[in-house]
Amino acid sequence: MATERLAIIILGASGDLAQKKLLPALFSLFAQKLLPADFRIFGFARTPLTDAEFRARTAENLTCRYTPDAHECAAFLEQFLARCHYCSGEYGATDAYLDLAAALQAELGQLTFNRLFYLAIPPSVFLPAARALGNSGLTTCDNRHGWTRIVIEKPFGRDRATSDELATALGQVFSDDQTYRIDHYLGKEIIQNLLVLRFANHIFEPLWNRHFIRDVRITWKEDIGIAGRAGYFDDFGIIRDVMQNHLLQMLALTAMEPPLHLDAGHIRDEKVRVLKGIRPLALEDLVTGQYAAAEHGIGGRPAYRAEHGVPADSRTETYGAAVLKIENDRWRGVPFFVECGKALDTKLAEIRLRFHDNAVKIFGAKAPHLPPNELVIRVQPDEAIFLRINTKVPGLETKFAPTELNLRYRAAFTGVIPEAYESLLLDVVKGDKSLFIRADELAASWDVLDGALHELAATQRAPEPYAYGSAGPQGRAKLLARHGLAL
Ligand code: NDP
Ligand code: BG6
Repeated sequence: MATERLAIIILGASGDLAQKKLLPALFSLFAQKLLPADFRIFGFARTPLTDAEFRARTAENLTCRYTPDAHECAAFLEQFLARCHYCSGEYGATDAYLDLAAALQAELGQLTFNRLFYLAIPPSVFLPAARALGNSGLTTCDNRHGWTRIVIEKPFGRDRATSDELATALGQVFSDDQTYRIDHYLGKEIIQNLLVLRFANHIFEPLWNRHFIRDVRITWKEDIGIAGRAGYFDDFGIIRDVMQNHLLQMLALTAMEPPLHLDAGHIRDEKVRVLKGIRPLALEDLVTGQYAAAEHGIGGRPAYRAEHGVPADSRTETYGAAVLKIENDRWRGVPFFVECGKALDTKLAEIRLRFHDNAVKIFGAKAPHLPPNELVIRVQPDEAIFLRINTKVPGLETKFAPTELNLRYRAAFTGVIPEAYESLLLDVVKGDKSLFIRADELAASWDVLDGALHELAATQRAPEPYAYGSAGPQGRAKLLARHGLAL
């Protein structure tokens, strides 16, 4: 009989993702009694920590969103932390995992248990880590008694070729069936709602095409810098960190054709089809930037190159904007402006569909410049869907104003909105791969950017500087103008 016992092994447990997102998400699942009763968490990283230090560090980020009662919360915290353990070692060292295996055995004895490995480490160490795990024998277990699954974070590779190589090499340790390629944006509630919005509301489908939609803008901005993550970020940059995965996934869900059925296979087939329909990005349609210190040198808003761990001559981009075109009947000619950046003017993630100008000019001089209608799906900072419409301002004169039909999640729905990692980690435990990236989907999304990324490296075009806290580099406005997109 299959075991319910579960060991969750997090590589990179000292890092940002593990501490800020994974461990809090696991705690939330535990507090909702959604994890198997008998589970353990084993953190692994190079930083030397005792179990007690790891627990203290972990406790700092745990919140009782699901159990606001203070006594209940304290009890859950204590029980959860007691199941957290830590081992340190080099990611590529088989011996280190033998020590981890010994720690697992000390906790769980000879019992059979399911094993969930989570690679919360920079992609440059995915492969040595996976190989050493394989060599240690930790990943080998008898499927009749327990499963082994591995979650791999993005970016998967640096380009199409390295992504394919990584897939082949990882395949020697973990089968495709065992591999969960995560893009946490797919676990966000409002992103999961995209298909429902489009296909469960009959009013949208007739408008969802080039005849009605003038352009689509997918924006992702953070108002902070790299927050101590130079070790990972400087090797990759924002295009590989965010555009290749989160933004292209949002684009695919926005632009795909209706799937035949709402199951994982059909949805992913349609995502692959639309990704393959995107014309490969031309370098001239890609703007890159790097943040410089805020103009007045405000403390705490340093230039990227002055961040701890970043080389003083780094050419890594912290901003990227591109215009993509989809070669199919639905979208031919519609520009998709995708933009992402760190240290910008605000924190925002949204999809904005802008409709064509109103062709009916019956309001004449009373409303010479009616703004276009827009449908906005806001992912962050607060989930919302709103439709911008023109409205008559109440009064005896006929005046118009743009207004919003507004669905704010936090006002409309009671209860806690689950974090993306809660939903996705639970899916891994359940073995549901619907919200994970399929191999052909990954390849198709690299193909969109691959040529431009190689050309960018070959021409050594430097990223344009922009001030920390600004709207991005000047090239942004030029790119928008070149595609007839107003600011
Ligand atoms: P971190 O920079 O925090 O790195 C995680 C851990 O890896 C560090 O604590 C460090 O642990 C180790 N590490 C860092 N740099 C190196 C290096 N050059 N060589 C070997 N080990 C290193 O990164 P994140 O936790 O932010 O990201 C990890 C992965 O998760 C990335 O693939 C990222 O794309 C992905 N991700 C991150 C998100 C986030 O919000 N942070 C969200 C979504 C995905 P130690 O020194 O103790 O070994
Ligand atoms: C990660 C990126 O994938 O997403 C980070 O590596 C970024 O650079 C993070 O900060 C943002 O996630 P969220 O869910 O806060 O938008």
